[in-house]
Amino acid sequence: MTEPLRLGIAGLGTVGVGVMRILQKEVDLLEARTGRRIVLNAISARSRAKDRGVDLSGYEWEDDPVTLARRDDIDIFVELMGGSDGPAKAATEAALDAGKDVVTANKAMMAINGQALAEQAERMGRVIRFEAAVAGGIPVIKSLCEGLAGNRITRILGVMNGTCNYILTRMQSAKLTYEEAFEEANQLGFLEADPQLDVGGIDAGHKLALLASVAFGTQVDFAGVELEGIGRITIEDINAAADMGFRIKLLGTSQMAEGGLEQRMAPCLVPATSPLGQLEGGTNMVVLEGDSVGQIVLRGAGAGEGPTASAVLSDICDIARGFRYPVFGQPAGSLIAATPSQSNTAAPFYLRFALQDRPGALAKVAAILGEAGVSIHRMRQYDHDGVAAPVLIVTHATPRAALDRAIAGMTATDVVDGEPVALRIEAV
Ligand code: HSE
Repeated sequence: MTEPLRLGIAGLGTVGVGVMRILQKEVDLLEARTGRRIVLNAISARSRAKDRGVDLSGYEWEDDPVTLARRDDIDIFVELMGGSDGPAKAATEAALDAGKDVVTANKAMMAINGQALAEQAERMGRVIRFEAAVAGGIPVIKSLCEGLAGNRITRILGVMNGTCNYILTRMQSAKLTYEEAFEEANQLGFLEADPQLDVGGIDAGHKLALLASVAFGTQVDFAGVELEGIGRITIEDINAAADMGFRIKLLGTSQMAEGGLEQRMAPCLVPATSPLGQLEGGTNMVVLEGDSVGQIVLRGAGAGEGPTASAVLSDICDIARGFRYPVFGQPAGSLIAATPSQSNTAAPFYLRFALQDRPGALAKVAAILGEAGVSIHRMRQYDHDGVAAPVLIVTHATPRAALDRAIAGMTATDVVDGEPVALRIEAV
């Protein structure tokens, strides 16, 4: 008879409890599908006494996740604690060192320490699987590593932070200010303990870095992600974008360009009628483009107990079936250290600025744009009460560097108040 596959779980928050529930409820189904009995032997969390609504009595308890990771009676260390370093990393390293496979939902740890951990796993003949770290329940790592294995990936796009998408769509649909929508998300418990992880784009940036590594065969490089959060987006931007047929999304994009690997996580305009433009609320969407397959769109819940636990179980089931491949889809030693490229690929941009409403003001701005090599495609000036008029310009495709030269020139004049807002318009 096949030996059971024995698990140890560290971290019993929402996801850990979700995994336990599925393991308790579906033990026979999982055995039928994988050919192995999957048993949870030991658990670890910060507090043993806390009532989590699941029965913990049948499992060995460890206070220290590192001790759990080294136990002789586990085959897979399931890391659900979170945090890029500290106990999560120490326990993952200990598990690999002790010859265990690792399944984790930890995007920060994998985005920052993924290459070193992948090398360690391979030295030990072990695997690390992290489906739950990117876009919750959406099987995007599996799609890249398996379903699209015969493609060269040409581009990845994604809305991968549900909280930001919730805030932006509430600003759009309920006409809330950024602050009001943020507070609503807070009341609903959507925000991370440090909200900057969400609204600053960091959480989504970690996910993008992981996807880029798997898609382009590069060493994961979170430091190479250009990051911009949603904090400067106003209701005026949302309305103006809508007026011109766009929606604003915190969008991750990555592609291998001439200058190197482009990885951006920033607010962008996408066509309102595109699948990304129509994505409402806390849902995630990842768009993958391959040279043979063309474009595929994956959509689903990016967070929450059930969806994230579903992804963790997918990884556990693969290991139970004996289905193993390198951590980032190809051997760690073959992953390229790509040169990070800062948005060299030209794109149209949306520019919003406050323009002094007096003769010659617009001519000055137009001259600055022209001198920087930026061509105007569409332009609107809205009615206003004060001395400064809200002006919107959509440019023709331009490299970001040219736009930055124009913005510096505009900011230095006496006709533009404050710093213009510039958002890339992404073709999807
Ligand atoms: N805070 C994330 C989100 C989920 O809002 O999508 C965890 O990555």
